[in-house]
Amino acid sequence: VANPSIHKSVAGYYSGKLQEHGPTPQGVDWNSAESQEVRFRQVLGVCDPSAPFSLIDYGCGFGALVGFLRVHGIDCTYQGFDIAADMVAAARAEYAENSSVSFASDAATLSPADYVVASGIFSVKLDADAAAWKEYMLQTLHAMNDICTRGFAFNALTSYSDTDKMRPDLYYADPCEVFDYCKRNFSKQVALLHDYGLYEFTIHVRKEK
Ligand SMILES: C[S@@+](CC[C@H](N)C(=O)[O-])C[C@H]1O[C@@H](n2cnc3c(N)ncnc32)[C@H](O)[C@@H]1O
Repeated sequence: VANPSIHKSVAGYYSGKLQEHGPTPQGVDWNSAESQEVRFRQVLGVCDPSAPFSLIDYGCGFGALVGFLRVHGIDCTYQGFDIAADMVAAARAEYAENSSVSFASDAATLSPADYVVASGIFSVKLDADAAAWKEYMLQTLHAMNDICTRGFAFNALTSYSDTDKMRPDLYYADPCEVFDYCKRNFSKQVALLHDYGLYEFTIHVRKEK
């Protein structure tokens, strides 16, 4: 199980954002709906939409991805997971649970799925030190890998950000290092996307040959 003290402080941070801004992009600490959607598009690229699939949204916030999937007619069975119990409560209030949409605050209750996507869970490290956060990020990637059969995708802030804009409470991952780690530990089929205009990158790990 990944670091409980990190989970506690991260959950507290996002609960605070939700209390302040409600179920809006700002309530999950994004600066706009546009950037939230750009990220959704990038992570969902790992999924093959030609047939219905099952999806786990790891760090689902208030479940905005459910709305995105519906608007774009993407046919999938969705499980949202978030360590902040308030986020899960907000998600349930926004999107009623049914046979194809469910939310959980305990990872142990998730059923394995075709794909896992995670948007925004590796950026805010608060006062954790960078080495501990990196370890936590890798452990979390293993947890994501363990609950999917076809692949997973995630994003992270990039170490190629402008130095004068970098903040000590955020974690900037080295995309080359993370790519290498995924290639060596998870699958030969790994894509690094670092061309969509934000100070971050997305990685797709595809288990299919
Ligand atoms: C930046 S928000 C993004 C929410 C959502 N993915 C979106 O784009 O609308 C990150 C969310 O991930 C949750 N989170 C952070 N670390 C997590 C972890 N290790 N496991 C599960 N949820 C996590 C936070 O509580 C927060 O709600």
